[in-house]
Amino acid sequence: MKLLLGYISEQLKKFLTPNHRLLSVEIVTNRLLLKPVSMIYKEDIFREFTEEITTYMYPQPPKEVSDTESFINDSLFEIKKEQSLVLVILKRNTQEFLGCVGIHNINRRNPELGIWLKKSVHGNGYGLETINTLKKWADGNLDYEVLVYPVDRENIRSRRIPERLGGTIFREFDKTNLSGKVLHILEFRIPKK
Ligand SMILES: CC(C)(COP(=O)(O)OP(=O)(O)OC[C@H]1O[C@@H](n2cnc3c(N)ncnc32)[C@H](O)[C@@H]1OP(=O)(O)O)[C@@H](O)C(=O)NCCC(=O)NCCS
Repeated sequence: MKLLLGYISEQLKKFLTPNHRLLSVEIVTNRLLLKPVSMIYKEDIFREFTEEITTYMYPQPPKEVSDTESFINDSLFEIKKEQSLVLVILKRNTQEFLGCVGIHNINRRNPELGIWLKKSVHGNGYGLETINTLKKWADGNLDYEVLVYPVDRENIRSRRIPERLGGTIFREFDKTNLSGKVLHILEFRIPKK
């Protein structure tokens, strides 16, 4: 009886005082620091998540800063529920904002990756460095089979990322994004190994 009461009180404690462990995730690479998205980055995201950046992505660029606030609030909600991990990508030594990366459906067998970098820092290989390190984090922290990386067939820079990580094309399909453009998606799958 004592044991049972102890167990119930443990479970109740967990339920009543969630520790939101994903909010304390920090991942460091040679050049980068990844940490959970927060309102501190509202202006950076609003300014940098432009029409050009979203050309091959599903989401639309924000029209108002309140759209970015909603994105951050939704992301925080999902992080707290441990469904997604949405991180900002910062330069390690200066903390300059570079972009965002997310891993979604983290409790499923096939979590999905998404990434964007601000235009002025493209061409430095930060995309591969980010996804490479996030995969390592997933390997150590998630029980998954494959990471899904959907990418438009014309988005050559982005395609290089799953290709470099040993991903292969699992299926192809058309999907209309929120700006009304039809994307031809190649769904790469990167095995856990
Ligand atoms: C996808 C993204 C994060 C990659 O950015 P990045 O890390 O700066 O990428 P890089 O410029 O370093 O290039 C990545 C690779 O593409 C290659 N590449 C770049 N431009 C190229 C071109 N015009 N033609 C062919 N290959 C090209 C690079 O040589 C590199 O290949 P390598 O790793 O074999 O050397 C960035 O382009 C981005 O934010 N795009 C907009 C948002 C987006 O589309 N996100 C992805 C959605 S799936």
